[in-house]
Amino acid sequence: MQSWKVFITLFAALVADVDGVDEEKICFPHNFLFGVATAAYQIEGAWNVSGKGPSIWDSLTHDHPERIVDRKNPDVAADSYHLFKKDVQLLVKLGIQFYRFSIAWSRILPNGLANNVNEDGIRYYHELIDELNRNNIQPMVTMYHWDLPQYLQDFGGWTNPMIADYFVDYARVLFQNYGSKVGAWVTFNEPLSFCQEGYGGREAPETIEASGFADYLCAHNVLRAHGMVYRMYEREFKAKLMTSIGITLDFSWRAPSSLLADDIIAAETARQFSIGWFAHAIFSKPGDYPLVMRKRIDTISRIQGFSRSRLPHFTAEEIEMIRGSADFFGLNHYTTYLITKSKKKISSKPSYYADMGGLVSQKSSWPKTNSTWLKVVPWGIRLSLNWIKRAYNNPRIIITENGVSLERGLRDKGRTNYIRDYLKYVHAAITKDNCNVYGYTYWSLMDNYEWLRGFSECFGLYKVDFDSPNKTRTPRMSSEYYGRVSRTKCL
Ligand SMILES: *[C@@H]1O[C@H](CO)[C@@H](O)[C@H](O)[C@H]1NC(C)=O
Ligand SMILES: *[C@@H]1O[C@H](CO)[C@@H](O)[C@H](O)[C@H]1NC(C)=O
Ligand SMILES: *[C@@H]1O[C@H](CO)[C@@H](O)[C@H](O)[C@H]1NC(C)=O
Repeated sequence: MQSWKVFITLFAALVADVDGVDEEKICFPHNFLFGVATAAYQIEGAWNVSGKGPSIWDSLTHDHPERIVDRKNPDVAADSYHLFKKDVQLLVKLGIQFYRFSIAWSRILPNGLANNVNEDGIRYYHELIDELNRNNIQPMVTMYHWDLPQYLQDFGGWTNPMIADYFVDYARVLFQNYGSKVGAWVTFNEPLSFCQEGYGGREAPETIEASGFADYLCAHNVLRAHGMVYRMYEREFKAKLMTSIGITLDFSWRAPSSLLADDIIAAETARQFSIGWFAHAIFSKPGDYPLVMRKRIDTISRIQGFSRSRLPHFTAEEIEMIRGSADFFGLNHYTTYLITKSKKKISSKPSYYADMGGLVSQKSSWPKTNSTWLKVVPWGIRLSLNWIKRAYNNPRIIITENGVSLERGLRDKGRTNYIRDYLKYVHAAITKDNCNVYGYTYWSLMDNYEWLRGFSECFGLYKVDFDSPNKTRTPRMSSEYYGRVSRTKCL
């Protein structure tokens, strides 16, 4: 752990040294890519048209509106299913180089299974991808952004080991149909979020609420599914297609709450339990789960009287299959947390947080946004990038999400500042620290359905009037700023 103390000293320097940099001079390399992101469930609407099957979020928002902050559902949302050509024109106006969107699994395979392919779903994404390519905007396609077909959840969702095979079948349908016109694929978006909240928590639609148990099963099967898709692609498509495959992992920076050794170690353990949980198996040299997860969960499981560890084991073949199964590292980063070593005694109830052993907080002085979890801490992105560089031998990184929720109005100076301040630190990570970052994605193109927060939180460069029949999109001030950045590559 001694080396992590050195790392902390280094990090203090990384936090400080972009202050006072003359912004006029901050330019990214000419081939650096700027894009924006959305996700199918959050914008498409058309939840039940032309053969689409229900997803777990359709079930939740219809059966339990009380769990949604504004009690609204996105049956229509921004209606991008019908208005996608308008959306592409917004992208053209922004001058961005790529568009990251997701495909709704149950629009392509209504039950999630490949014996029934929905032709209208296939058509819809063909038209969207063709429209993007016609306008010289590269599609970057996420296969799974939380909207699991309800039918698959009914027998276990991501805790069912068979789901990895079903996901491979789905991915094969996508490669067969779109492989020749999509340059970059993301298998999963934020498995940390959907495994932990969905299978460890109570609020999200999976409602399994078995923290320290079902969340580990979920992650295990997600990692297997990711590796299996990558190997299937190598065997069946690589010779014919020119595309790349990666995964998007969310990594809020975890800083120690003090310079006590206990807190420094707890913060590093928290990083291994968050980003490391998924990235270690794919991007580290040895593969498999981080050693500290293995040790802590094995030990605590034994103390709790379990006859085997709650953290499942990969076979030697699976470790090999998953190791190195990504052409790029997709990073979602929004904010920073503080970690304090927990002094709580281990109870008999399994818990991810007890396994991790750290208490999570944020500094009250960090600037607030309209999302309770999202405080503005621009330096955290530079530390995250440096940590990934050191842990995984400087992989190719694309920032697949970064953004902020603010008030509904159009004069969003705060959003422009957020983008500029975070990009300053990304620029420093590239030019001063040699982090291998080749692109940045703002979340989101437009206001959308923010999961349990409904329409109450606005992340968009474009405002959407959800009450208007046309779901009118209006540019915010920040869209002009981001458009200029993406065209000139300079802040
Ligand atoms: C689709 O859902 C809407 C509510 O969002 C409902 O009014 C409509 O009847 C449904 N259509 C079909 C074909 O089930
Ligand atoms: C959103 O943030 C603004 C300040 O940026 C604040 O005035 C407003 O009350 C916030 N709204 C909510 C719903 O949190
Ligand atoms: C909605 O869009 C249609 C077609 O683009 C247009 O004719 C109509 O005026 C729009 N309505 C509103 C209220 O903006």
